[in-house]
Amino acid sequence: MARKPYATKTGNAGETQQRGGALLTTNHGIPVSDNQNSLRAGARGPTLLEDFLLREKIFHFDHERIPERIVHARGSAAHGVFTCTDPIPELTKASLLSTKGKETPVFVRFSTVAGGAGSVDTPRDVRGFAVKFYTEQGNWDLVGNNIPVFFIQDAIKFPDLVHSVKMEADRGYPQAASAHDTFWDFVSLMPESLHTVIWAMSDRAIPRSLRMMEGFGVHTFKFVNDEGKVSFVKFHWRPVLGTQSLIWDESAKLQGADNDYHRRDLYEAIAAGDFPEWDFAVQVFDQALADSLPYDVLDPTKIIPEEIVPLRVVGRMVLNRNPDNHFAENEQAAFLPSNIVPGIDFSDDPLLQGRLFSYLDTQKSRLGTTNFHQIPVNAPKCPYANMMRDGLMQVQVPKGRANYEPNSLDQAGEDPGPRASAEGFVSAREAVAGDTLRIRSETFGDHYSHRALHQQGRGSGRRSRSFLHRL
Ligand code: HEM
Repeated sequence: MARKPYATKTGNAGETQQRGGALLTTNHGIPVSDNQNSLRAGARGPTLLEDFLLREKIFHFDHERIPERIVHARGSAAHGVFTCTDPIPELTKASLLSTKGKETPVFVRFSTVAGGAGSVDTPRDVRGFAVKFYTEQGNWDLVGNNIPVFFIQDAIKFPDLVHSVKMEADRGYPQAASAHDTFWDFVSLMPESLHTVIWAMSDRAIPRSLRMMEGFGVHTFKFVNDEGKVSFVKFHWRPVLGTQSLIWDESAKLQGADNDYHRRDLYEAIAAGDFPEWDFAVQVFDQALADSLPYDVLDPTKIIPEEIVPLRVVGRMVLNRNPDNHFAENEQAAFLPSNIVPGIDFSDDPLLQGRLFSYLDTQKSRLGTTNFHQIPVNAPKCPYANMMRDGLMQVQVPKGRANYEPNSLDQAGEDPGPRASAEGFVSAREAVAGDTLRIRSETFGDHYSHRALHQQGRGSGRRSRSFLHRL
């Protein structure tokens, strides 16, 4: 096949062209004539330092690995589309939920929490359910789990929780499973973890397929409409295939037979056109309802029962495209709970508040640069512009003389730089007052009745959809 050296239909000069009969080159575009033999002095002689082809290739290979995620290291991902099926402009001005039939591209990453990137798919563990919506108002990352509650109430306990659930510090095992001594030790000293421990020890923690998992935003968030009216909201994903689990015996056998059971299942289903789908539902309530509950809606160890606040399905997500490249997309995906769009806002849940710091911070350590947003899987699909500049691995070439705002040089010209506008993100208005204290609110104090209430099966059959014995 004739090789196409530079400009082709799929690759222009200056772009990388990995297929379509491309000529093999170095990373600097120099054509390679021999990719089998390094440069030697004589057929059996020493290799020459001069061999820049060899050195560049080995250099790049030596640095292929980047730090894996500190949690949720093992994940499987897919692209898809979210369609609004029941618009709710009266509740939120978020554009993706404004019009029936409106489509928003998404990237989803499902993950285990405790194991490393090369660990197995089927241990007993919470699963991550992270969705990046590429909306026309910027990226909204709903970084949730397949269990609707969390082990701890305050972000300051997260490093302790994770240290206890990951492999034990002296022996380096178990690699991926949550049920082991240091975890039991930690949760036995943390009564607030009880509710989530029961979920984690249920069948929920060994999903049959990533296509058969529910997803939950866990925290209470806020919706804000055009008039600035604020409601509380909890987010739910419901798999169209139903929620299904493996039994322990099945998962133990699968771990021996196929470490990539979930990853393979997701990839093959999508490749075969058997696209997984989820309904997206919201539970919306106001302050009066929040006040009527015997626990705090800001406490992430609690659910809002569905017989009290029913779910409203507002959209459907279909995953219809496998990543082209596992590293470029799955590994380099950076989800940030702090990525929200106009119409959605954070609550004061103290776990959520800590997360808002943690994810932005961790991306610098893992992806190495503040410019991780330029990686294609992370970049917004809408235009974005600001005066943030430079930094490691800057690949954009901003134009203009003035890189500050306001300025009178470029602003006055024909091609002015970006300015803030009233349509931009505005935080929900809330009165905040109080003393500076390291204290847990008393409304977070009851770790037992909530769980017991639901285990007794109080309420309608419908309510069990949101709880354990649904399985
Ligand atoms: C204070 C509490 C928490 C902290 C500090 C925290 C921190 C982190 C960090 C540092 C990562 C790695 C991110 C990366 O390197 O890309 C991560 C990943 C993740 N976390 Fe959390 N987390 C917390 C609680 C939660 C909760 C409550 C949930 C679920 C609602 C959750 C869901 C996830 C998911 C799904 C991922 C994987 C994202 C991906 O697929 O890349 N985390 N978390």
